[in-house]
Amino acid sequence: MIKTLLVIGSGQMGAGIAETAITHGIPTFLTDADATQRERGLAGITARLNRQVEKGKLQGLDRDRALSRLSLVESIHDVTDVDLVIEAIVEREEVKRSVFEAADAWFPPATIFASNTSSIAITRLAHATRRPERFIGMHFMNPVPVMTLVEVIRGALTDGDTVTEVIETAQAMGKTPIESEDYPGFIANRILMPMINEAIFALQDGVGTREGIDAVMKLGMHHPMGPLTLADFIGLDTCLFIMQVLYDGFGDPKYRPAPLLKKMVDAGLLGKKTRRGFYTY
Ligand code: CAA
Ligand code: NAD
Repeated sequence: MIKTLLVIGSGQMGAGIAETAITHGIPTFLTDADATQRERGLAGITARLNRQVEKGKLQGLDRDRALSRLSLVESIHDVTDVDLVIEAIVEREEVKRSVFEAADAWFPPATIFASNTSSIAITRLAHATRRPERFIGMHFMNPVPVMTLVEVIRGALTDGDTVTEVIETAQAMGKTPIESEDYPGFIANRILMPMINEAIFALQDGVGTREGIDAVMKLGMHHPMGPLTLADFIGLDTCLFIMQVLYDGFGDPKYRPAPLLKKMVDAGLLGKKTRRGFYTY
């Protein structure tokens, strides 16, 4: 079992992973290239734990203990000794590769590297390092503190010990790990993202209003939120990157991203995180 963790990227996923780790007893370092995002990550974690205390779901002492396990650091070079690094930065392969190259040069060969990528091939990311056997996909769901699934994706060269340690770590964080093969989008986004993309095509074609499309999936299919709301919640940039990975990876036109999705990302309407997407927040 791993004892210490570094999370790279303190956006909505990285902050959620760090929060879940510290509330489950794992000392965690959290970093981000953007200082504002680092502070926002910490503020979000603190606010959510405070809310849990107000609701009576967490003792004040346990919140304080959890927060004392969290260290915000400017860069990976402020951390020397961790067992597991989880990368949760922007869904861009070239950016992830450069982060892993830098981490590979800094951390000892035994440190496990995991990517929280939604869709990018684990085997290819692993190839950016000299430790492909200690490299794995650890795909948490949003919001991390609430959703219990972690997809565990073995790259072509990932070894059995790494899989076991990561499965044990996910369980220690209160999650249920499910293994997936290394195919574009793995299991979750191969199924979820084409549905969201189709909802955007339906909106673009005028089949229904945004409220109508969301209501059909909520009332008719018992989804907790409609696909357009969920896209706002995930981030439209992330949705577009994932569709692009599915399209490029399978070479099948059924995965082409909806032009409306592209247009909204071009306009900087990324959903909840920029306060405007299909809805306004
Ligand atoms: N962070 C932390 N906790 C959150 C949260 C957040 N962003 N949003 C809600 N919660 C917590 C609340 O505090 C509340 O906790 P308690 O029960 O302890 O009080 C609990 O979740 C329920 O919240 P609410 O009653 O306010 O709201 P809700 O009933 O609408 O539930 C939800 C919220 C669980 C997020 C629900 O809307 C839902 O299931 N949404 C869909 C989530 C989903 O599909 N996620 C997968 C996205 S795809 C993905 O992650 C993969 C990818 O690669 C893109
Ligand atoms: P986000 O935009 O909220 O956060 C990304 C963070 O990465 C930002 O804070 C940014 O400053 C930081 N970053 C960018 N380049 C960096 C670098 N070179 N070094 C350090 N930090 C850097 O994005 P997110 O929603 O948290 O997604 C992060 C990852 O998690 C993506 O790979 C995404 O596909 C995946 N994911 C997202 C969801 C979701 O619903 N949003 C769900 C599961 C997995």
